[in-house]
Amino acid sequence: PTVAVLMGGLSAEREVSLSSGRGCAEALRGEGYAVVEIDAGHDLPARLAEAAPDIVFNALHGRWGEDGCVQGMLEWLGLAYTHSGVLASALAMDKQRSKEVFARAGLPVAESRIVAREEAEARHVLPPPYVVKPNNEGSSVGVYIVEHEANTPPRLGPEMPGEVMVEAFAPGRELTTTVLGRGPVQARARALGVTDIITEGWYDYEAKYAPGGSRHVVPAEIPDEIAALCADYAMRAHEALGCRGVTRTDFRWDEGRGAEGLIVLELNTQPGMTPTSLSPEQARAQGMSFGALCRWMVEDASC
Ligand code: DAL
Ligand code: MG
Repeated sequence: PTVAVLMGGLSAEREVSLSSGRGCAEALRGEGYAVVEIDAGHDLPARLAEAAPDIVFNALHGRWGEDGCVQGMLEWLGLAYTHSGVLASALAMDKQRSKEVFARAGLPVAESRIVAREEAEARHVLPPPYVVKPNNEGSSVGVYIVEHEANTPPRLGPEMPGEVMVEAFAPGRELTTTVLGRGPVQARARALGVTDIITEGWYDYEAKYAPGGSRHVVPAEIPDEIAALCADYAMRAHEALGCRGVTRTDFRWDEGRGAEGLIVLELNTQPGMTPTSLSPEQARAQGMSFGALCRWMVEDASC
């Protein structure tokens, strides 16, 4: 079958997506698929009509590609595509609303509010330390950390939207878990272990994508109880949003507080597939090659 790999796109994570997409396209060729690479611009429907693929591999990240927009277009065209559907994608991309769903499902999340950017610049919306970030971006684009001793609220850059999320700072170790879920009832969903991400400073864009920008310990050297809790929370987060295929749930763990110190930061419906990305590394640690992971996603595609 022919697979169209969508990459690039229009979001702030365009470069990340090009890296994910090129890697996945190469791996799928290695798996024997005929592959068409599509840089997803405004002419995407025409490009898809021209390529006439059997399956669409969505390697887009961020707005339009990860938030239900492209998924809705693919539904309309009747093309099977990888990863989550329209609603789950849209919910997961909205950090505030997805956390509301997580909280209702009994998952621990950090307190947060959506406010106008002027308000976030005018006063401390929450007691420091806290984080100000766009409600719907990935890869730590536009994340401002207001330290405990900060006297003034942050001055936000031009990349920040009119409304921002202000979230209580969750201290501790940066853990993450990938889930492979199949089918609407997730009967065969499974979690791929836990990675502990070790950085010099914050796990920001640079630390995420510069080679050597962070060190990943896979599987994480953490108590079995915490690893089991990460798997349980990641599967429940995946199910609560109604996700499909591969997702990755990010956590903070304040280890001094034991199981109480673990909170869900967010769930990513289009986890990175770059050379420094976490999900392919977790799959590899479980004996699943990058090619096998890409094949699994293609075989899971539906619409
Ligand atoms: N937003 C990036 C691609 C990730 O979650 O891996
Ligand atoms: Mg993210």
